[in-house]
Amino acid sequence: MMDCNCRHKIMMPWSVDIDLADGTMREPDRVLVRRASDMEGYYKDPAALRDLIGQDDPVHYEVFEKQIPEQYGQLLLCISKLHPGRVGDECFMTKGHYHTISHTAEVYLCIRGQGYMLMKTADGQCVAEPMRRNRMVYVPPCWAHRSVNTGDEPLISFCVYPGDAGHNYGDIAQQGFPKRVFIRDGREVIE
Ligand SMILES: [Fe+2]
Repeated sequence: MMDCNCRHKIMMPWSVDIDLADGTMREPDRVLVRRASDMEGYYKDPAALRDLIGQDDPVHYEVFEKQIPEQYGQLLLCISKLHPGRVGDECFMTKGHYHTISHTAEVYLCIRGQGYMLMKTADGQCVAEPMRRNRMVYVPPCWAHRSVNTGDEPLISFCVYPGDAGHNYGDIAQQGFPKRVFIRDGREVIE
């Protein structure tokens, strides 16, 4: 580390290998794993979730991250791998969050799979943007966001957001989203 002309220390450039087909990052600094047992309170059918937990407590999603200073000016990035599955007839999803600094945006580039980015605002707007291979979703400032896998393979995306954004899970844990995504009779239902 050495000083540059600005007030920040110079960080050395780096690179990392990503397996786009498998949705994994080689040599991540951190892997967040959420299983069914981490998702209590999130699905419409708690009994169906308890059944899943009692079976083999399947992994819902994995997030691969590199350690980057959580500071203004930095960009945090991750590979998100949301596994396929249902809780009752509701599709596997991530917990979802606002950013702690709520006026910060995020970009998701979908690499594999299919589903939705479910987004909501504090004043009750709710939008489901399709996610599929080669499609990018822009999550504007102040929108909580959660991804949902409607397919039979992992929903894999690469996401980038401001270094100081932070995660606020508490509001979603308490309030949820106004809409949920189900598969009924082989068809997607958002309600
Ligand atoms: Fe985010």
